[in-house]
Amino acid sequence: MKRIRIIITCTVCLYFQAVICQNALPVIVKKANGAYGFIVDGKPFTVLGAQLWNSSAWPTILDKTWPQIKELGCNTIEAPIYWQNIEPEQGKYNFKELDYLIEGTRKQGLRLILLWFASFKNGSSQYPPEWVLTQPNKYPRVKNSSGDEMMILSTVSQANIDADKKAFIAVMKHIKEVDGSNHTVIMVQVQNEAGALGTDRDYSEPAQSIFRKKVPAALTEKMNKKGGTWEEVFGAQAAETFSVWYLAKYINEVAAAGKQEYDLPMYVNAWPKEHGFQRPGEYPSGGPVSHMLDVWKLAAPALSLLAPDIYLGNYSTFNYLCKKYNRTDNPLFIPEMGKGTEFARNQFYALGNYNAIGVAVYGIDPYHADPNDERNKERLDDKFNYFKDNYRLLKGALDKIAELQGTGKLQAVGEDFALREQLLQAGDYDILFSYGFPGYKHNKELTGRALIGQLGEDEFLILGFDTKFQFKPKYGSGYSTAEIIIAEEGYYSNGKWVQTRIWNGDEIWHSTLTPDGTILKIKLRKTKKDAGSALKANFE
Ligand code: DGJ
Repeated sequence: MKRIRIIITCTVCLYFQAVICQNALPVIVKKANGAYGFIVDGKPFTVLGAQLWNSSAWPTILDKTWPQIKELGCNTIEAPIYWQNIEPEQGKYNFKELDYLIEGTRKQGLRLILLWFASFKNGSSQYPPEWVLTQPNKYPRVKNSSGDEMMILSTVSQANIDADKKAFIAVMKHIKEVDGSNHTVIMVQVQNEAGALGTDRDYSEPAQSIFRKKVPAALTEKMNKKGGTWEEVFGAQAAETFSVWYLAKYINEVAAAGKQEYDLPMYVNAWPKEHGFQRPGEYPSGGPVSHMLDVWKLAAPALSLLAPDIYLGNYSTFNYLCKKYNRTDNPLFIPEMGKGTEFARNQFYALGNYNAIGVAVYGIDPYHADPNDERNKERLDDKFNYFKDNYRLLKGALDKIAELQGTGKLQAVGEDFALREQLLQAGDYDILFSYGFPGYKHNKELTGRALIGQLGEDEFLILGFDTKFQFKPKYGSGYSTAEIIIAEEGYYSNGKWVQTRIWNGDEIWHSTLTPDGTILKIKLRKTKKDAGSALKANFE
């Protein structure tokens, strides 16, 4: 009986060139076209996420927050679990809050990404239990160049690695027990924005003695460098590369041990360096920042991906970071984003231009201690409205988007300050997108954003908000006009297109995606007659 079930639930997915089983563990796979896909319960899954504030993964807060999470319409929540709460006494584990979180998420019909707040959180070590933090002789700390002890666990200490690892093993074992057949938990972030804030490296005596030695051959050989001390090999980047190597190895050891218990995809997130003077220590030194990805990849093979947290909303920095992290050896996933309109727009860029397997907005719940955030606790804050719109609309085409990623047939556009139009090429067509015209646009915000997928030679999917589109056959193709033969509004359900109405007349005249979002499937026909030549013919 069991055998039959396995045969029924496993299919060969040509698209992913893999055998995909409905009951298999969540997994990140590389598709035939080189882009990555996230598979959950046998189907492509794109994370449309929301992350909780740091101190919100507690029953008292969760109970009040579910309605707002529901209102946002995300498909995944990202929530921290705290080492200090899980192992308050050494070797004695408490999973009460973790269980509550998993059960609550499951009841809401959502998926969960757990964030292991343990040795490192935002470049410091606030989350280890008391028995770790109060015994620096046993669990050594980083020292800065003045010799001051910092609230950061030293990455060259095996005692620190072992303590964290032991707790993480217990956590993963427990998740397997309570969730192994449900897959509510689909991925785990190991630590949070790890690194050392306030120093470029560890100057404690054990770290110093390693720093004076030769760089491990495993690193120099792969980086095509000659052997030597850290300073000889890496010069000005010696301190940071040293920090990266030992931090990445630390986290890799923790992650690998957790995966032995329960093999979920695991990742590490970065506090990006692209602001300020960009010096290690201004951002957590050792973290997977954009110029250190190769070293991280080498030192931490147990991780499925390295992910940027992007609060830098401007178009060029955002796109730069997406480009950096969307690599042949690294799928793009953005676990944290700011909540301005620009990030709602940027989500489209991440999905449309950089094959992101997921995006998430930070700080969904209103129960936090930011005095500048005076939000109404009763309902979802208005600042999330554009994300709510995104998620509602994107859900109607997620599978199609995942299918188009990596084919070169999916692109994104987005309104920006002083950017009134964008011209794209897609197959035999030029498509002009423009912003700001709709008379019914209810505010001055830059809300225009769209995804464009090419479904066939003359067929396109356009999905988005507040954006006007116009098609022309490619210049020089011999054709002059693109007739819209049919424009169907609708959505995808279980892979099938569901038409809700047909746009024509005024709607096609304006060709503008509505403020509450539109998904259109458009069939075109190229013709050689255009208005100009018709007019000329009449005069002749
Ligand atoms: C980035 C961190 O990763 C989050 O945990 C949180 O502290 C935010 N910054 C702050 O808003």
